[in-house]
Amino acid sequence: MAGFDVERVRADFPILGKTSNGKRLAYLDSAATAQKPKRVIDAVSDYYRGYNANIHRGMYDISVRATNAYTESKELIARFINAPSYRDIVYCRNTTEAINLVALSWAERHVKKGDSILITEMEHHSNIVPWQMLARRKGAKLEYTKLTKDLGIDMEHYKAMLEHGPKLVAFTHVSNVLGVINDAKEMTRLAHSHGATVLLDGAQSVPHTRVDVGDIGCDFMAFSGHKMLGPAGVGVLYGREDLLEEMEPVYGGGDMIRSVSFESCEWNELPWKFEAGTQNIEGAIGLGEAVKYINSIGMGSMQRHEKGLLEYALGVFEGIDDVRLYNKAGAGKRSAIIPFNVDGIHAHDVSAVFDSEGIAIRAGHHCAMPLVNSVMHEDSVARISLYLYNTRDEIDRAAAAMEKARALFLRR
Ligand code: ALA
Repeated sequence: MAGFDVERVRADFPILGKTSNGKRLAYLDSAATAQKPKRVIDAVSDYYRGYNANIHRGMYDISVRATNAYTESKELIARFINAPSYRDIVYCRNTTEAINLVALSWAERHVKKGDSILITEMEHHSNIVPWQMLARRKGAKLEYTKLTKDLGIDMEHYKAMLEHGPKLVAFTHVSNVLGVINDAKEMTRLAHSHGATVLLDGAQSVPHTRVDVGDIGCDFMAFSGHKMLGPAGVGVLYGREDLLEEMEPVYGGGDMIRSVSFESCEWNELPWKFEAGTQNIEGAIGLGEAVKYINSIGMGSMQRHEKGLLEYALGVFEGIDDVRLYNKAGAGKRSAIIPFNVDGIHAHDVSAVFDSEGIAIRAGHHCAMPLVNSVMHEDSVARISLYLYNTRDEIDRAAAAMEKARALFLRR
């Protein structure tokens, strides 16, 4: 696509032409889930209509086509994140399941009583709870890297925590609440220099920027299809091949074995040994199509559009009385996620006013209660999150909704 034409992009997304509460839908909640372009919807529907069959099981035409489409999806994902091979791409339901797979397999074997696991104070519940569960099972310690006053990772504290020799370091690339971008490469380098294995939560980065696992050097990375224009119910665990090879599967059943006797069984090769039972075939095919769509637009163009929009939004919102913006970083240094509150108005009320204007935003703890409650000292935060299909007009409408909330709730 020559240049970036947001109206042309919007025309690819059927839902963006709809109304909500009688107003044109303005969808500003892509960090929760992204909208789907027509060609992703069509890819799923074409599978159902044209070649719906199980994979790896049938010798007939449509089963072979389904198998090929499923494998092609993994090849597209591998290239997208610069993984060496589709063998390193395990499909799960979502980021959460991918992280749990590492906890239940790799960490189950390697983390022992008294060992530590290091995460950060800005993690989503999906990168906290599996480690709390593991720590409980194993008698291990779960430790947290603190944040600075600006809500970034306190790198001095991170280095100090690494001195405890954690077995595993797990952290988010981009905070789903703050939009803060962590220096994944440097954090990985430091963790490796202390002998730790590194898991990167790429749920909020992979959809918005070129994430190169080879360059970053992380050992595992988890992300979801539904946040990158693909269907829900399909997520990715990337793993370094030697680690995946030595890991035990968590689920046993069909397709994850090479052979089974009454007494025992032998695992299938990578990545199938982790994918027991019939998989989300249509989801995988849709995800492959999402990758093709992003590639056709160009990640660079998407990023430039999001950056320009974020710059515009921050400028507009900064000028509105009582609006508190939690991330003070400029547009070049953060992702297009804007956490805010309007002083004196609960975030849920702000969200209800937005909804009455046809604008979808998220409000609450954003599945990151430790961060929101104990670091930001809030019980609820409103959040606008942008993607390639958002416009300046939608930002103006969000600003008008903020003013409307002020007028309704703040009588001075
Ligand atoms: N993790 C998603 C969000 O931040 C659901 O909204």
